[in-house]
Amino acid sequence: MKILGINETTHDAAVCLIEDGEVLFAAHAERYSKQKNDWFTNDSLISNALSYGKPDQIAYYEDYWLKKLRIARHGGFGGGKPYYKSSPLLKGIPVKSFKHHYSHAAAGYYTSQFSNAVIVVLDAIGELDTSSIWIGNGDKIKLHKKWGYPFSFGLFYSAFTDLIGLKANEEEYIMMGMAAYGDPYKYYDKVSEYFPAVYRQKYNFHSGITDWGQEITEQDKFDIAASVQQIYEERLWDFMYIARQELPSRNLVFMGGCALNSKANTLLWDIFPNVWIMPNPGDAGSALGAAAALYGKHLNWQGPYLGHDLGGEYPVDKIVNALIKDKIAPVASGRAEYGPRALGNRSILADPRDPNIKDKVNLIKKRELFRPFAPVVMEEYASEWFDMDYTSPYMQYTPRCLKPKLIPSVVHADGTSRVQTVNVWQHSGLYSVLENWYEKTGVPVLLNTSLNVKGQPLLNDLDDVDLWEKTYASHILRN
Ligand SMILES: [Fe+2]
Repeated sequence: MKILGINETTHDAAVCLIEDGEVLFAAHAERYSKQKNDWFTNDSLISNALSYGKPDQIAYYEDYWLKKLRIARHGGFGGGKPYYKSSPLLKGIPVKSFKHHYSHAAAGYYTSQFSNAVIVVLDAIGELDTSSIWIGNGDKIKLHKKWGYPFSFGLFYSAFTDLIGLKANEEEYIMMGMAAYGDPYKYYDKVSEYFPAVYRQKYNFHSGITDWGQEITEQDKFDIAASVQQIYEERLWDFMYIARQELPSRNLVFMGGCALNSKANTLLWDIFPNVWIMPNPGDAGSALGAAAALYGKHLNWQGPYLGHDLGGEYPVDKIVNALIKDKIAPVASGRAEYGPRALGNRSILADPRDPNIKDKVNLIKKRELFRPFAPVVMEEYASEWFDMDYTSPYMQYTPRCLKPKLIPSVVHADGTSRVQTVNVWQHSGLYSVLENWYEKTGVPVLLNTSLNVKGQPLLNDLDDVDLWEKTYASHILRN
């Protein structure tokens, strides 16, 4: 049976097609509509999914009516009519809906290798639930505990994102990056009052921070970001530690938008010996989650390269030559990544040894100059270059860099790096590039950033590649 999972109406709409435990296709709406964080699906996305077969069932990622009711009572955004209901491509296909947090839990647990796990879901808000703990056992997922609106880790973080002038529900990752440039103790006490203990918040963050009461200078923004990140990490640590004490499993599955905070994720390894965060833990991953919830069993998870297929072999030689000659290699090849990170198929790779490369790539991408870049490293050398004894195939953790002088362009101001580890099974082409690069330079690391400009989605298809080449007069490598 083919199941089409759908997530839409709030942010980051996506679809995912599965059949008998195989993920056939999964992609984000924004890559087709070119509207960043697009709330709704569209027919070009749906028809790309349907080129892998017509679904027998649709699985929707949340309870539409319950969410509508919550928005009517408590406010918030989203809740418009899902596009798929009027798409001519999906007429007459039966629909089953799942609860928002259950879809998150299913996306995480059913893509994991675990036969038992503590599943933690933390986000801003689903229908009414904001935090939940589930127990995975065999193919069963059972609710352990939940917390409802207004208590919310995600709303806390988003409200401060808004306070410092960024876009809530979209630019939390920028605030996380800014935290490294601020003093976490300057506003520690003040921020702490908003979230004084793990299950306790004095404030409903849904309408933002309305009582900060003092002017915010440019430096304040960095100091507030640092204090918020610090408080968030301390409360998260307590939350996870209690979950670890309460439940017997040593395996953690962490899902929901909060699992996108790679800096905080790093501390999970101090609490649980095994951690799995699916590469798309936010709402976009719940397209897969809803489909998996309906399937009700573990999926045969092969990795995040599930979107639009550009075909062709990975252009290994072209990339290595470009890196040696120009130090920068934009590449578009194979299937697009499902998830927010470019993990090699829609990436700009660059020489991390050159301290000036960061500014050059930031100029290409039109990003703020403080924004850090991430390294991709051969898995077997990861612990030699970064303070880590785990793998990070989807750039979800930020260990300390152990050789910052050798790869200055992929080290953040606080000495950490958001690492992607890669082995030959994960991505044989990207692994080959690294192997070649290591042979020539003695460095098993490259800079890896997404192939897009600020505020725009990742490049997806051939038209996007052509447009990029014409607009920026820069050649993208492909076979
Ligand atoms: Fe969510």
